[in-house]
Amino acid sequence: MIYLDSAATSYQKPRTVMQAVMRAMSNCASPGRGSHEPAMRAADEVFEFRSIAADFFGMDSPENVILTMNATHALNIALNSLVRAGDRVVISGFEHNAVTRPLHALRARMDVIRTPLFDREAILKGFENRIDGASCVVCTQVSNVFGYILPIKEIAGLCREAEVPLVVDASQGAGILPLRMKELGAEFAAMPGHKGLLGPQGTGILLCRDSAVPLLYGGTGSGSTEQSMPDFLPDRLEAGTHNVPGAAGLRAGLEAVRGMGLTRILAHERNLMRLMADRLNRISDLQVFLSEDPEAQCGVLSILPMRCSCEALAEALGEHGIAVRAGLHCAPLAHETAGTRETGTLRFSFSPFNTPGEVLRSAEITARIMSNM
Ligand code: ALA
Repeated sequence: MIYLDSAATSYQKPRTVMQAVMRAMSNCASPGRGSHEPAMRAADEVFEFRSIAADFFGMDSPENVILTMNATHALNIALNSLVRAGDRVVISGFEHNAVTRPLHALRARMDVIRTPLFDREAILKGFENRIDGASCVVCTQVSNVFGYILPIKEIAGLCREAEVPLVVDASQGAGILPLRMKELGAEFAAMPGHKGLLGPQGTGILLCRDSAVPLLYGGTGSGSTEQSMPDFLPDRLEAGTHNVPGAAGLRAGLEAVRGMGLTRILAHERNLMRLMADRLNRISDLQVFLSEDPEAQCGVLSILPMRCSCEALAEALGEHGIAVRAGLHCAPLAHETAGTRETGTLRFSFSPFNTPGEVLRSAEITARIMSNM
């Protein structure tokens, strides 16, 4: 199989990730729930994960790294901490349902910056005009549909100037692009552990400040006589038994990413994406969503076939052993902004483990399928 669906989840994992999960399952009990050895090993494992993540994302304190079950969970904590009914929240036109659904549930007024795909100047202007007086800004680092890299550093600068808290959805950027929390001055950043960070599913990270409020309530192994959650992090945001094998695997994923280096990962995935775009551009009746500015797109490429549906093409590719994702990618807003709400797109997304040979073969098979449609 040729796996080109890494924007959904990383399928090929470093062996060290699987070994770490197995090691934790064999050796660890529950952190903070005892002083026996397996509990202490679990505490060390989870602390080690936090320390490595804090260093990786430019945070002062490991306690401000929260282990969540996914990016959606992390985003829900962030938005629940900042947003009240009726608040005006400024968001980009490329946000995922993991942002818009919680905002809808919180009855926020979403002020959407709708700007053309890959147009960094326009999006910056849009944010500049609307940030003042907003309750908060939520912006994705990279569009999960189009691989569009949003100018998050500059948007963070605008937020700092206007003193409006920023929530970064780093779901598609983590493990590919740098994210330095202290430099950005963001209030929160949320990400899954299982995409670019190469960790197990069921893991996510919330990077937060001390003011974050709990979403879930329950046991923490600390302050047990009190009925309110502990007032210190990470306990305040981590109710219930931890996913220790997940934390161990995610730590190994972070170490693997650090070993490869973000610059190399981005260059590799971007080269594969551009190679694919170049080959697919030779096929007639196919729209390829490629940025003219090479810096504005990472290793995610959407296409739109004119003679068949995206789903039919994805299915045909699947029959040839090529895994891709078609449809709305849980981001109807991004499709609406790009004008593909009615059709969706077919998305190829690359990982550090894909090769140019896989790309050429997938492009060739796509051309063959399209010529028979
Ligand atoms: N948000 C994930 C995707 O883009 C699941 O496929």
